[in-house]
Amino acid sequence: MHRRRQVLAALLPSIFFSLFFLVYIFFNVGVKSSLVASKQSTLNHTSFSLLIGILTRPDNYDRRHFLRLVYGIQSSPIAEIDMKFVFCKLTKDEQRLLISLEILRYNDIIILNCTENMNSGKTYTYFSSLPYVLSRRYDYVMKADDDIFIRLLPLSLSLKPLPRRDLYYGFVIPCNSMNPYVDYMSGMGFLLSWDLVEWIGSSDIPANNTYGPEDRLVGKWLNLGNKAKNRFSNKPAMYDYPGTNGRCSHELIPETIAVHRLKRWDQWRNALLYFNVTRGLHLSNM
Ligand SMILES: *[C@@H]1O[C@H](CO)[C@@H](O)[C@H](O)[C@H]1NC(C)=O
Ligand SMILES: *[C@@H]1O[C@H](CO)[C@@H](O)[C@H](O)[C@H]1NC(C)=O
Ligand SMILES: *[C@@H]1O[C@H](CO)[C@@H](O)[C@H](O)[C@H]1NC(C)=O
Ligand SMILES: *[C@@H]1O[C@H](CO)[C@@H](O)[C@H](O)[C@H]1NC(C)=O
Repeated sequence: MHRRRQVLAALLPSIFFSLFFLVYIFFNVGVKSSLVASKQSTLNHTSFSLLIGILTRPDNYDRRHFLRLVYGIQSSPIAEIDMKFVFCKLTKDEQRLLISLEILRYNDIIILNCTENMNSGKTYTYFSSLPYVLSRRYDYVMKADDDIFIRLLPLSLSLKPLPRRDLYYGFVIPCNSMNPYVDYMSGMGFLLSWDLVEWIGSSDIPANNTYGPEDRLVGKWLNLGNKAKNRFSNKPAMYDYPGTNGRCSHELIPETIAVHRLKRWDQWRNALLYFNVTRGLHLSNM
C-alpha cells in the first residue's frame, strides 16, 4: 500500500543505528527500563492505556530532557501511560549521533517518515504510522505539543468514565466554544481512541486531505468520515497560560489537566510551583 508508513530506518547512515531501529520496530526488543517493567507488572490494576506523543523537533534536546523529568515524576494508578517524543527525519550527522544515544538510553523516540515543515502532514503521518510502528495497541493516543504541561492524574481521572471507542477529546476551537461537535480540538493536546487511529491509517479520507492546518484537518477528517460520535471538550481544565492567547487563556486553576503555551522558563516555573510539583522534595543533609 502506498500509504504504508514506517519509522525511517533505511535512511539513517549508521549501520548500527539502522540495525537498532529495525530491531526496535519489528521485534520490539528495545531497551526496556525497569520503570516500564514495573508498569507492566501492575497492568492488571489499571483501567486503560494511553500513549502521549509529544510532537517536537530533533534539535530540542533541552526541552526533551526537561519533559522527561516533568513526566517521569508523575504517574496515575488507573492508567498505563507511555510518553514518546515524535519528530520527522533527521537531517544532520550530529542529530544521528545524539539521538541514537537518547534512544539507547530512554527508548522514547519515534522518528516518522516526513520532513519538519508546518502543515506538511506530520500529524497525519504520526497517527497513520502508529499501528505499524508500535508493537502493541493503546486504548487512547494523544498528540501533544512540547510547550504544554499535562497533569497525568487529573487527565486519567477525566478519561476513566469516557467511552474507549470513537472518542475525540481535547480543547475545542474556537476559544469560547463549548460545543465539541463543531470544528476541531486544539493542537495543544488532543486524544483519539485507538479505533480512530486505525481509521486514520486506513481510510482514504485523511490520506486525501493532508495539506493544511493539521489540527483543523483532524476535525475535518472525522466529520467527513462521520466518525467520533463521542466528543469531549475539557474546559476550563485545559487552557493556554494566563495572558498568552486571549479567550483561550485564563488563570491557573486547581482542577487543571493541561496548561499550554509554556514558552519561557518563568512560565514553566510558575506552573510547576502552582501545582506543587516539587513539593515532595525533602531537604537532605547534603
Ligand atoms: C517515505 O515517504 C516517501 C514519500 O511519501 C516515500 O516515497 C518513501 O517510500 C517512504 N519511505 C519509507 C521507508 O516508508
Ligand atoms: C495482578 O497482579 C498482581 C501482582 O502484580 C497479582 O498478585 C494478581 O494476582 C494479579 N491479578 C490478576 C487478576 O491477574
Ligand atoms: C482519494 O483520492 C483518490 C485519487 O485521487 C480517489 O480515487 C479517491 O476516490 C479519493 N477518495 C476519497 C474518499 O475522497
Ligand atoms: C499546593 O499546596 C498547597 C499547600 O498544601 C495547597 O493549599 C494547594 O491547594 C496546592 N495546590 C494545588 C494546585 O494542588
